[in-house]
This record gives sequence, C-alpha cells and structure tokens, in this order.
Amino acid sequence: MLLYRFDPKNAKMNNNPIGIFDSGIGGLTVVKEIIRVLPDENIVYLGDTARVPYGTRSKEVITKFALELVNFLLKREVKFLVVACNTISATCLNEIIKVSPVPVLGVVDPTIEFAVGMTKNKKVGVIGTAGTINSRAYDQRILQGNAKIKVSSVACPLFVPIAEEGLADHQVARLIATDYLKDLRNNGIDTLILACTHYPLMRKIIEETMGSEVVLIDSAKPTAKKLKQVLKENNLLSKKKNPKYEFYVTDAPERVLKVASRFFGNVLNGYLKKITLPIL
Ligand code: DGL
Repeated sequence: MLLYRFDPKNAKMNNNPIGIFDSGIGGLTVVKEIIRVLPDENIVYLGDTARVPYGTRSKEVITKFALELVNFLLKREVKFLVVACNTISATCLNEIIKVSPVPVLGVVDPTIEFAVGMTKNKKVGVIGTAGTINSRAYDQRILQGNAKIKVSSVACPLFVPIAEEGLADHQVARLIATDYLKDLRNNGIDTLILACTHYPLMRKIIEETMGSEVVLIDSAKPTAKKLKQVLKENNLLSKKKNPKYEFYVTDAPERVLKVASRFFGNVLNGYLKKITLPIL
C-alpha cells in the first residue's frame, strides 16, 4: 500500500495537528487526557466504528486496517501519530513506525513503564482484548523491563460491547467482571493494567471486583504524559492557542455521539464527521 507522504523537515510542523486513532471510540479516553495536559494542541481523531472490534481479528487484518487509518491522518498533515488502541499498538506498531514519516507513539510502552514503577510485590495483571492478550506484547515487554515481575494476563472480550452499550454500571457488568477477573484476584497482583482504551469506562466495576488494594493503570495518563515529553524534546509543541478539533468516524456518527456523550459530555458536539469506507 502506498502511503501519502509529505516531508516533515520542510513543513511548518508545530501547529499541525496530532493524529490520534483507534478502532472505535475507546481512544477518546486517551484524547480526553491529551486535551487536559496539552490544551493548545490541534487534534484530528479517527475511530473506525464501521469495523470495530479489532480485538478479535488476525494480525494481518488489523495491520491492513491500521495502515488505512494512518494514511487518512497523514493526508491531514499531522505532525505526530498516537495509536490510542492497545490492540493496534500490541499487534502492528512496528509496521506503522516503518511507513510513517512522522513520529509514532503507541499506548503499550508508556503504560508498561508506569505500571512497572507502581508494583511493589512484582505481581502485575494485564486485561485486554483477545488480540492484545494473544500478542503477548505486554508480557514480553514487562519482562524485558524487569525479569522478576510475574505477569498474569486475561482477555475480557465482553467489556468493549458492555462499555459501548452504556452497561458499565449494570449488574451484567458486575457478573462478567467477577467471572473474568477471578483468577487475577487469586494471583495476589497489586497492579492491574487496563490494556484496552475502552476499559477506563468500566473502571468502577473493575475496581470493586479487584478490591482497593489493587492499583489500576490505564493507558490515558501515561500516554498523554509521554506525548507531552516527546513533543517537548523534539520542539514540536504547538505555538498557538485556541486549538481546533476534528473527530472522524467511519460509521454511525449518531450512535457515537450518544455513546460518547455518556462518558465525555458534549465534547464531540459540532466536531464529529463521518467518512465513508474505503478511506484511502
Ligand atoms: N480500543 C481497542 C483497544 O484498545 C478495543 C476495541 C477493539 O477490540 O477494537 O484494544
């Protein structure tokens, strides 16, 4: 696939937008934190709501879809790409880095860095989509960082539809969380990584199920913090105030507005646009 290219060296980069993408709306949990820590940055977000979930798909298909999203954002001359999806970051971050003319930040490494610094008993749990857990990206990278850490991973595939259906506080969420998390509760972990950008929406139930002694780490804060640091180091911070936001989805913008408003208020109002597939 031929990716759109511009030469970042010749471009006036600072005020170009940051491109942020996800398989759906989960990446908005990362966007919210990025807006909080980097309030002057222009943002273009793309959520592939026509093809979500990615978490049940093969690496080959996830990579193909992800590169299409990257291409869409590169055409908008983004200065930086944030992969606000654990499934994509865990599966094909290297493939994205290989083709991108601008720097790329995934959610896996910043999240791990944070979690490794938090655990005291060196027992860390990871929950995510089947794609993320089966990739073993978290287990391998955590052990590379500290070989003494014992990692227990569990796929929680129903958490994404539960969060999207607005059932995060419902009894059904509690029952499913109790079942998915029972082994982790018995493993004595003191830190649990929510390795899916949808899972912060399920935080309350996960917290109640795991107990207050387990620290929950999600991707939003570590990724936004790392992004700020990298933009600063590369002299890429925006030099303007009053940022512009554009949010694109590939299907059902009315549903996205409804679901997103439950978690983010009216942040998308007036900014949300639909694009049609194919998006090349
Ligand atoms: N937002 C995706 C992630 O972080 C989960 C949704 C999906 O399966 O596509 O893994």
